[in-house]
Amino acid sequence: MGRDVIVACDFDSAEKTFAFLDRFHGRKPFVKIGMELYYAEGPAIVREIKKRGHKIFLDLKLHDIPNTVKKAMAVLSRLDVDMCNLHAAGTSRMMEAALEGLTRADGSRPLLIAVTQLTSTDEEIMRREILIERPIDEVVMRYALHAKNAGLDGVVCSPLEAGKVHESCGKGFLTVTPGVRFADGEIGDQKRVMTPAEAARIGSDYIVVGRPITAAEDPVAAYERCVREFVG
Ligand code: C5P
Repeated sequence: MGRDVIVACDFDSAEKTFAFLDRFHGRKPFVKIGMELYYAEGPAIVREIKKRGHKIFLDLKLHDIPNTVKKAMAVLSRLDVDMCNLHAAGTSRMMEAALEGLTRADGSRPLLIAVTQLTSTDEEIMRREILIERPIDEVVMRYALHAKNAGLDGVVCSPLEAGKVHESCGKGFLTVTPGVRFADGEIGDQKRVMTPAEAARIGSDYIVVGRPITAAEDPVAAYERCVREFVG
């Protein structure tokens, strides 16, 4: 898979999701299904979007004891998504267990990506609330290395960190970066943001874009602008 824009379909119903996707008339953006949509509609929504020919990133950010995550991943693996994820904070053992659960009998599996620090978190919040005293860059790099050593395919991180992740984990280790905003757009609750063009320059493999596309007056034009700025 090459560099691509992943559209975060953060909707609360299948109806709204399909109304949104129908506007693309035959174009098949890579779609992210997150907690809101998955909890509203269950696995059926994954199957339906897949049937329409979209690639799917199932963003459920698993974080539990290794055995529970392994079994949950085994079930998700049957949905035939292209990418799924978990929290690196769940430990290396949890990540290894997840990979085991995700791998099918024939050896195939979706890409598995680890969340390092949410892009809504900054160093000040980490120190004050999560009691992590180390600089955010160091935390992200350590979590990325743990993910790589556990056999995962990449990390979710801020585009601000993608370059450094590639430096320490290698170019082939994927960086999936939310927290993307147009230069003239609203930031919302994201803290560590970058434009699609900057994300491309710094070497993100995939950008995840939600509200700048879903809340735009013309979502298809916003998607196309994103692709133009990011992929070229
Ligand atoms: O609307 P917006 O562009 O902020 O959407 C970003 C999407 O990426 C959301 O679905 C959010 O859950 C997800 N995400 C994130 N930060 C992470 C991991 C996922 O914002 N570290």
